[in-house]
Amino acid sequence: MALVEVKAVWKSYPRRAGLRTELRTIVEDVSLSIEPGETLGLVGESGSGKTTLARMILGLVKPTQGKVVVSGIDVARSSRVDLHHLRRQMQPVFQDPYAALNPRMTVMEIVTEPWLIHGIIPDRQPGIETGRTSLRARAIELLGEVGLDESALPRHPHEFSGGQRQRINIARALALRPKLLILDEPVSALDVSVGAQIVNLLRRLQSEHGLTYLFISHSMPLVRYLSTRIAVMEHGRLVETGEAVALCADPQQAYTRQLIAATPELPADVA
Ligand SMILES: Nc1ncnc2c1ncn2[C@@H]1O[C@H](COP(=O)(O)OP(=O)(O)O)[C@@H](O)[C@H]1O
Ligand SMILES: [Mg+2]
Repeated sequence: MALVEVKAVWKSYPRRAGLRTELRTIVEDVSLSIEPGETLGLVGESGSGKTTLARMILGLVKPTQGKVVVSGIDVARSSRVDLHHLRRQMQPVFQDPYAALNPRMTVMEIVTEPWLIHGIIPDRQPGIETGRTSLRARAIELLGEVGLDESALPRHPHEFSGGQRQRINIARALALRPKLLILDEPVSALDVSVGAQIVNLLRRLQSEHGLTYLFISHSMPLVRYLSTRIAVMEHGRLVETGEAVALCADPQQAYTRQLIAATPELPADVA
């Protein structure tokens, strides 16, 4: 069974047109599915509706029409209990690693908050005592997975570089051992070489944890590097979907060819 099914989804927003208000369609009749363990790359120019689609999958925006089903649950019509359950399974990582982190919280508070909210610590070793010690031990373990160490725990987000902040975001996203990460332009705000390190971290985490990714980017070279399948979005519509290798070798749409021809955003040793 697909982990995510997007079924004929539309999103429109009202827009002022002179004295009248009209509806502007941002996402138009999009259908796609994401299978467990794969990386679906969603690529398209800025403004094509990628983030709006991601937010509908996350349940942060309601579709005007159509529905999103994650693990068999209709996201927009789910009960509070179901939504709570879905939060554990699917986590977002957004573009701006600073905006996503509460500047007043320490890294310890940031990465342990999901456990406190949900009242669980996944993968807790049997025999480890509960309370502060085990929270701290698990937090250190989690930071280790994203290439940070214990010294990060008492510090605040502003004390870190952009790349390190994105690592903290990823650690927090992984805290509840989700199945699916919605990665919305996770390296677009970073320098190319720092972004490449984050991309490689994401690859490693995926193989270690069997994660499923929706990887969203305006950069086809990046999407091609990470994805098993690619969906190409133009002006709110999916214009082409296919296996990554086949789609890049033999694009059917002029728009896809144009994205492929765009400048690489990965250093040569990664791409
Ligand atoms: N809440 C909103 N109200 C009105 N327009 C919106 C809203 N959110 C996004 N848009 C518009 O939808 C279009 C697509 O935006 P977005 O989904 O962010 O695209 P992308 O992520 O591909 O750059 C943009 O023109 C944006 O201005
Ligand atoms: Mg976007």
